[in-house]
Order: sequence, then C-alpha cells, then structure tokens
Amino acid sequence: MNDPHLPLSLLEAKVPRHVAFIMDGNGRWAKQRGLPRSFGHASGARRVRSLVEHAIDRDIPFVTLFAFSSENWRRPLEEVSTLMSLFVLYLEKEVKDMNVNGVRLKVIGDLSRFDARLQKLIAQAEAVTAHNTRVTVTVAANFGGRWDLVQAMTRWQAAHADQPAAEMSEDALKPFLSMAYAPDPDLLVRTGGESRVSNFLLWQLAYTEMYFTDVLWPDFSPEQFDRALAWFVKTDRRFGGVSQKVST
Ligand code: IPE
Ligand code: IPE
Ligand code: MG
Repeated sequence: MNDPHLPLSLLEAKVPRHVAFIMDGNGRWAKQRGLPRSFGHASGARRVRSLVEHAIDRDIPFVTLFAFSSENWRRPLEEVSTLMSLFVLYLEKEVKDMNVNGVRLKVIGDLSRFDARLQKLIAQAEAVTAHNTRVTVTVAANFGGRWDLVQAMTRWQAAHADQPAAEMSEDALKPFLSMAYAPDPDLLVRTGGESRVSNFLLWQLAYTEMYFTDVLWPDFSPEQFDRALAWFVKTDRRFGGVSQKVST
C-alpha cells in the first residue's frame, strides 16, 4: 500500500476484491483538444498501466477493463483498426512487465472475430502470465453481456445433452460464464459521463456498486481511482437484506 491518497483506516475498512471499468470518453477527450479520435484511444490505452499498478498498491486482486464492446464494430472501419492496433501494441509491450508485476492476464469476449495474429497474441499473453497471482487483469474485447449469457447457455446445453433445460439453474450456469474464475465486481467505474451499462457484464453486475464520473478516461488518474474507492467505502451493500451498519 504505497503512496496512499486516502487514510489507510478508510481503505482497510473495505477494499473491493474486483473493480470493473467502462473506459469511456476517449473520443471526446481528443475532440476537446482538436485531435483525431485515435489520439484519445492511444492516450486512454496509456492510462491502463498506472491504474493496474494502483490496484496492486491497493491490494485489489481483480481488475476488469471494457476495451471493445460487441457493438463497437458499428464504428468507422478506420477507428476499429486503430483500436485493434492498440490492443496488439498493448499485448506486445506490456506482457514482460506483467510478469514482473505479478499480473495474470485474461481476455474475455467472442475472440473468433479477431484476425489470427491477434488471437495468437492473446493466447500467448494469457499463457505466459497464467502463473501470476498478485492481480488478475481481464480485458473484455468484442464482449457483450448478452453474448456471454447466450454462449454460457449453449455450452451448458452441449455439456448436458441428456438433461432438460429445466435442470439449468443459476449455480449450474455460473461455471460457463466468461468470468467464472472471478468474484462478481464489487465496484463498477464508468468514466465519460454516461450512466449506463452498455451491454457490459450483465449477470455479474447484479449487486455491484456503480460509480459514474464525468472525468474522461484519458484523464482518469490513480487519484480519481482513489475517489471511487472512497465512495465505495461509504456504500451500504444490503444484497436484498437489511443494513448491517450500526447507526450512530
Ligand atoms: C471509449 O471511448 C473507448 C471505446 C469504446 C473503445 P469512446 O471512443 O467511446 O469515447 P467517446 O464516448 O466517443 O468520447
Ligand atoms: C462502452 O462505451 C464500451 C466500452 C467502453 C468499450 P461506448 O462508448 O461504446 O458506449 P455507448 O455507445 O455510449 O453506450
Ligand atoms: Mg463512448
């Protein structure tokens, strides 16, 4: 816990195990500066590293980043290409340091739509970092929450061909969801001013605390991250029950 921007007592009180980010606002960040959108994406990609390092400092074991949604193919071809190139660059550049920092990388989403080179890089990066245990960083790429539910049901059915659909329960389906290896997010942070989920982790966000900020993703600093954590500390998670907080 180096360089704390928050009193330790607050942080130790309630550290989320899993923080998920919807990294939004790259395009507007660039526009504000009179730059092409691609500059916003490049700047946004550079942000990721300091935030992952900050999660390590804060002892947060799971960090998930929404990088490309199943609907983002609707963008101009040039922008999609930029995003793919940045993803390739990120995988090529960061994997070595991920091993130094104890980062296990996971990529979730329908990867079959990516070109063969990118698919291979993803598989290699996952394999090379699989043994790391400090933090699991999941990148959601060509991911959609609805896609995840459908693929989980399809895979459940293939694994239980002799069973009727009535046998499918929440517990039965869970192992087939893309994020079966992680606890559900405790905290969702969406930058860029919109208060929507945009088809991110629909199942897993059922009881997640949601923090929406106007800050644009390329400006989202470790200090901003701490603000979200401080907000999270104050939430009262009831999970459908009654408050456990002692009122004073
Ligand atoms: C988020 O920034 C990055 C992706 C969705 C890939 P945007 O590109 O959505 O930025 P805005 O929302 O247009 O500002
Ligand atoms: C959500 O951002 C997806 C990612 C951050 C990858 P969008 O910019 O695509 O979301 P909408 O279109 O504003 O809902
Ligand atoms: Mg956006």
